[in-house]
Amino acid sequence: MEFKKICISGLGYIGLPTASMFATNGVQVLGVDTNPGIIEILNSGGIHIHEPGLGEVVAEAVESGNLRVAGTPEPADAFIIAVPTPFFEHDLGEYEGQVYKKADMRMVTSAAQAIVPHLRKGSLVVLESTSPPRTTVDLLVPILEGSGLKAGVDFYVAYSPERVLPGQILRELVENARVIGGLTPESAQAGSDLYATFVRGEIHMTDATTAEMVKLMENTYRDVNIAIANEFSRLAERFGVDVWEAIQLSSLHPRVKILSPGPGVGGHCISVDPWFFVESAPDLSRLIQRARQVNDAQPEFVMSLVHKALGPDLTGRKIAALGLAYKPDVDDLRESPAVEVVHLLTKAGAVVKAFEPFKPDAKIAGVQLVPTLAQAVADADALLLLVNHTEFHQMNVEVIMTLTPARVLIDTVNGWARMDWVREGFELFRLGVGK
Ligand SMILES: NC(=O)c1ccc[n+]([C@@H]2O[C@H](COP(=O)([O-])OP(=O)(O)OC[C@H]3O[C@@H](n4cnc5c(N)ncnc54)[C@H](O)[C@@H]3O)[C@@H](O)[C@H]2O)c1
Repeated sequence: MEFKKICISGLGYIGLPTASMFATNGVQVLGVDTNPGIIEILNSGGIHIHEPGLGEVVAEAVESGNLRVAGTPEPADAFIIAVPTPFFEHDLGEYEGQVYKKADMRMVTSAAQAIVPHLRKGSLVVLESTSPPRTTVDLLVPILEGSGLKAGVDFYVAYSPERVLPGQILRELVENARVIGGLTPESAQAGSDLYATFVRGEIHMTDATTAEMVKLMENTYRDVNIAIANEFSRLAERFGVDVWEAIQLSSLHPRVKILSPGPGVGGHCISVDPWFFVESAPDLSRLIQRARQVNDAQPEFVMSLVHKALGPDLTGRKIAALGLAYKPDVDDLRESPAVEVVHLLTKAGAVVKAFEPFKPDAKIAGVQLVPTLAQAVADADALLLLVNHTEFHQMNVEVIMTLTPARVLIDTVNGWARMDWVREGFELFRLGVGK
């Protein structure tokens, strides 16, 4: 199939790079976003997210005349939906006394509804948003068939999960293997033809529900494995062991690869997607639910480390929280456990100044963010490393000594080389180290 014009709904971390990639490969693209602020920024030549190289690619796409942006869709040969699928904050489910989170699919619903008037015979609709199993078949198709056309007969429908790594999105969009699940084999083929425009990795075709499960299984696998690492960090502390050393030694086993513990699991994928399984089949996903609970409780474990370093009463203690992103070297603060730790510290009476180098001007309710490292550490009693940004783990000890009176370091990510700091008179408390 040939695609001359496509319409992409949702211009965030996924939709904007994808739109630009199609546009720079010769396809006419209309990018659609319901946030007028984003449309305004893009129309004035800027971008609203931090992703290396993205500004240049968007500029190239706009200059080529192939990328336009608007608030509503238009008729197109293909439609891609890449809108958020968060969970509800307050609308919780319950199964046998265990509470679980439910997916908020309202943005997928409204993006699909907006496409309906523009659907034509032979169009293709691809859902990219991470979704609970059977979303394509049970939610998307009935909405699209509101057009009077029959899915799989008059138009094609596919699900294609996105598995790019923030920070490397542009390279991974092209190089990663892509899974395309069609409502019918013809739909999968249409999806494959579409992405072949720029994807150089292998394209694997399957059915829509398998493709949905593939994405959820990938992230759930990682979540459960991080949960075991986090549990190991607690056990190591109990038994007087250094978990980082123990993990390194365990991983010498040829069939063992233990992930790293830390302050918890965040971001828009790994901390969210496992719930989509739990919601869809709570009776069959107890391990997955337990892993989520372990990871969500890890900020509390960080609090016990802070108490170990600063004593039982944190009232008035000044703490410089270094990093708020959910992982190193990205500006994404969504579901970040670092933010949760700052909230817990503040609740315990500590005075926290947080510094996030990738988003120094971020606004988070209840968090005092400062724009420079120097301001964060200036009058601190302790420095708390929450994210292993390169800038932090390469921090120069001599320089830091001139910026702060603090001589207590709390490291939740094994980012600081112990001896470098201890030699200069710092006391270092590391997560998962009971020695
Ligand atoms: N960010 C990632 O690394 C990543 C990786 C894999 C999968 N995903 C999945 O991709 C989907 C999109 O994630 P994202 O990170 O790009 O989200 P995002 O929040 O960065 O961007 C989504 C955009 O969609 C817009 N939007 C909301 N409702 C809309 C509607 N009805 N019509 C048009 N636009 C609408 C929002 O204004 C926002 O700009 C999610 O399901 C996410 O789980 C994300």
